Amino acid sequence: MLVLGLETSCDETGVALYDSERGLLADALFSQIEQHRVFGGVVPELASRDHVKRMLPLIREVLAEAQVAPAQIDGIAYTAGPGLVGALLVGASCAQALAFAWGIPALGVHHMEGHLLAPMLEEQPPAFPFVALLVSGGHTQLVRVDGIGRYQLLGESLDDAAGEAFDKTAKLMGLPYPGGPEIARLAETGTPGRFTFPRPMTDRPGLDFSFSGLKTFTLNTWLQCRDAGDASEQTRADVALAFQQAVVDTLTIKCRRALKQCGLNSLVIAGGVSANQALRRSLEKMLGELKGRVFYARPRFCTDNGAMIAYAGCQRLQAGQQGGPAIGVQARWPMEQLPAL
Ligand code: KG4
Ligand code: ZN
Repeated sequence: MLVLGLETSCDETGVALYDSERGLLADALFSQIEQHRVFGGVVPELASRDHVKRMLPLIREVLAEAQVAPAQIDGIAYTAGPGLVGALLVGASCAQALAFAWGIPALGVHHMEGHLLAPMLEEQPPAFPFVALLVSGGHTQLVRVDGIGRYQLLGESLDDAAGEAFDKTAKLMGLPYPGGPEIARLAETGTPGRFTFPRPMTDRPGLDFSFSGLKTFTLNTWLQCRDAGDASEQTRADVALAFQQAVVDTLTIKCRRALKQCGLNSLVIAGGVSANQALRRSLEKMLGELKGRVFYARPRFCTDNGAMIAYAGCQRLQAGQQGGPAIGVQARWPMEQLPAL
């Protein structure tokens, strides 16, 4: 089965073609980051308008690269939520229009399920069951995964998502959007041990997270240094490293706890923050101690992309799931509501 995947939930237009027999045939991405950077974050209306401009050229590009004609496509998968409603509507209406014209089904896909399944596109995919840490700009969740659509939420962030904490902290420190990669880059030259930040909610049982206090702690440390006349690049890097280390340690502690609770030693990390090298190293070390393994997608498929949507949609369409012609999108959409395959 050959599926065209469309992703437009936020500030990236992603298009890909996935074939159940031959794997990923082509994928293309346009990132709007440059357009939003001047505003310090994503401007929803600008995002929607840009998706409209990019969508059809990207679809043509992907079809040409894979040397595929529309008549060969069996279905279209589009991100139906969660995300920015205006942005989602662009992908949904485009998918439904093409599906109607081509006489094939269109299916709305859950964005976080897309992220969760992205490591399946790699050479050594994880096998069910596993624990998944979903860390994106909008979500921080620990999920027990027993199969596609068989998700049990173990814990989640009570306030800021991990990526959001990176982005907001970076902004407070005068770094450009998106802050995750900026903090990660700065942290490379930070001095280990100069600052130690709290590891929120690790001293009590449970698998929930809270990153908003850490963000404030980081800001206060940075402001104290600056007021004392030390706003050097080195100090900025030292603060970035301390912040990143606190987030990484917190996520690692909770992942270990979740694995223990489920009696599993297979961990999947997905979403934009799973591209973070320090997080990968820390989780690899922890899983090494547990004689288990951590799985993640190549960096390009950690952040938003069309390939993960094409893959997730293909699994569901192949299992016979039907979407119907309605253009329905959801800004919020709990993943446990998805039907099991
Ligand atoms: O999954 P994603 O592309 O979009 C959402 O679904 O939200 O995640 C974007 C988030 C942003 O907050 C970005 O700062 C963060 O992922 N991010 C990173 C890194 N690369 C992207 N955070 C930490 N380290 C990175 N290397
Ligand atoms: Zn995402």
